[in-house]
Amino acid sequence: MTSPDRPYLHDHRERATAAVEQVGRRRATRAQTTRANRAWWDSAADDYQQEHGGFLRDIGFIWCPEGLDEAEAQLLGPTASLGGKRVLEIGCGAAQCARWLAAVGARPVAFDLSLGQLRHARSLNARTGVSAPLLQADAQALPFADESVDIACSAYGALPFVADSAGVLREVFRVLRPGGRFVFSVSHPMRWAMPDDPGPRGLTVTSSYFDRTPYVESDDAGVPTYVEHHRTLGDRVREIVAAGFRLTDLVEPEWPAGHHREWGGWSPLRGELIPGTAIFVCDKS
Ligand SMILES: C[S@@+](CC[C@H](N)C(=O)[O-])C[C@H]1O[C@@H](n2cnc3c(N)ncnc32)[C@H](O)[C@@H]1O
Repeated sequence: MTSPDRPYLHDHRERATAAVEQVGRRRATRAQTTRANRAWWDSAADDYQQEHGGFLRDIGFIWCPEGLDEAEAQLLGPTASLGGKRVLEIGCGAAQCARWLAAVGARPVAFDLSLGQLRHARSLNARTGVSAPLLQADAQALPFADESVDIACSAYGALPFVADSAGVLREVFRVLRPGGRFVFSVSHPMRWAMPDDPGPRGLTVTSSYFDRTPYVESDDAGVPTYVEHHRTLGDRVREIVAAGFRLTDLVEPEWPAGHHREWGGWSPLRGELIPGTAIFVCDKS
């Protein structure tokens, strides 16, 4: 079964083991969302890492399917300035970004909701010999002290999925020191108006951009098994500002010439015409 109108992320090769009976836009509470996504990422982690691990590299900081690399983009600040900084990676998956941060001299801590993903992070820590401390946590309730972190980052981790993204922003603001920076990438909000199809169908508007109803997959009992929550661009900006941040930049990476790799609904065809990723650079005064 395919779910062609999903906004982001998994294709049939990343399908969790739970049978998917219903796919569509409907309400999902915070608890339902968290429960569904923890189980989904636990069961999809092996396939996700097998499919995308090579592109992400064991030690590498790739922001998005367009391949924007922190080593060149330097959205966290000049790489040379990261030495000694305490950096929090949110929704780290296999913690490729955190290992890159460790390799350039930062002091990362990486966390994820999913133990399945963290198992990959642990084995890559061992295999590469570059270690990032790992923990399991929910981005909506950070187990860190106030003003204990210099920088926070998230490459498609947590923010596209959570019911309470405003709460995540408040939590990140709380744990950042004054002068700290939070940079996060999500699927570009305008993609929610189109089918998540790498082909021409993915260029047609089939639903309202303004419909904030979450995308939900459910089992035969109607229990959600996978959830993503939509925010418009304006919603994202308002949540960032309401948390106390200054929005310093909004990066919409362009599809690079010669980049042919598809990732779900991201493809050269769509990437050359419309943005696929939004990256928010947020500063705490
Ligand atoms: C698309 S993956 C991105 C992982 C990694 N940043 C990368 O680029 O491969 C999304 C990750 O967000 C995690 N996640 C989802 N909801 C979360 C939450 N509430 N708190 C923390 N992590 C969450 C998932 O478990 C998953 O590992």
